[in-house]
Amino acid sequence: MSTRIVVPRPRVIDRSRLSYIRLRSASPLQVPRPRLIDRSQLIYLTLGKVPQARKINPAHVHYLRPEPSVLEKNILSPETPGTENFEPFAITPQLEQEADRRIAQYPDDQKRSAVLPLLHEVQHRFGFISPESIDWVAQKLDIAPIKVVEVVTFYPGFRQKAPGKLHFRVCRTLSCAMGGSYELMAKICELTGIDRGSADTHKDPISVSPCGKFSVEYAECLASCGTAPVCLVNDDFHEGVLPEKAQELIAQYNG
Ligand code: FES
Repeated sequence: MSTRIVVPRPRVIDRSRLSYIRLRSASPLQVPRPRLIDRSQLIYLTLGKVPQARKINPAHVHYLRPEPSVLEKNILSPETPGTENFEPFAITPQLEQEADRRIAQYPDDQKRSAVLPLLHEVQHRFGFISPESIDWVAQKLDIAPIKVVEVVTFYPGFRQKAPGKLHFRVCRTLSCAMGGSYELMAKICELTGIDRGSADTHKDPISVSPCGKFSVEYAECLASCGTAPVCLVNDDFHEGVLPEKAQELIAQYNG
């Protein structure tokens, strides 16, 4: 007995139906165009009500800042009425040349020893040691800026803010104190309109007059105890300056 397998005949394909899935058909599929998305609706669909970004009050920003660094704490703001007496710090070819000459006086592996000459050069040219000049000196000597700050804050001869055109340094060590240096300081301040206020600290010793012409600070023993009281006006040394001579002293420079 033979079994006959019935194989269905392939169906005839209706080509007109194929046209629905072909791209270039006589009657293309009706695919709906994507709708434009309303972004404001998206917020509701995804996150719910999103509050408006609040404006930041700059006065509150300091709450977000970390504590000031040691460097920031030790660098004073140089702005005083005397700032206009000096050129702002700038790295000029002359300054670079002079710095390189000074650095070359030390062995290559000891060039950090040039920190004092470089700081003197900066103060001589620009009147005081600004934060920018500290960075520059540190970079010239391949040392951290805090190392330069340590030197600047150790030696009272280096100023971190702009003095007046006439800078008075009055000795207040024992002989001069007994000879009347505190009274001399008070007299100079009275005559120049300087308010010492709370400026008499180790960190911020200089007080400047409102006009920016005069400034004062106390100094320790200026090595002339026998002729007390003594003081420096810029780089000029004056001995036996009793308080009643203060006016005469100022007049010498203020003519
Ligand atoms: S105490 Fe003033 S010069 Fe020495």
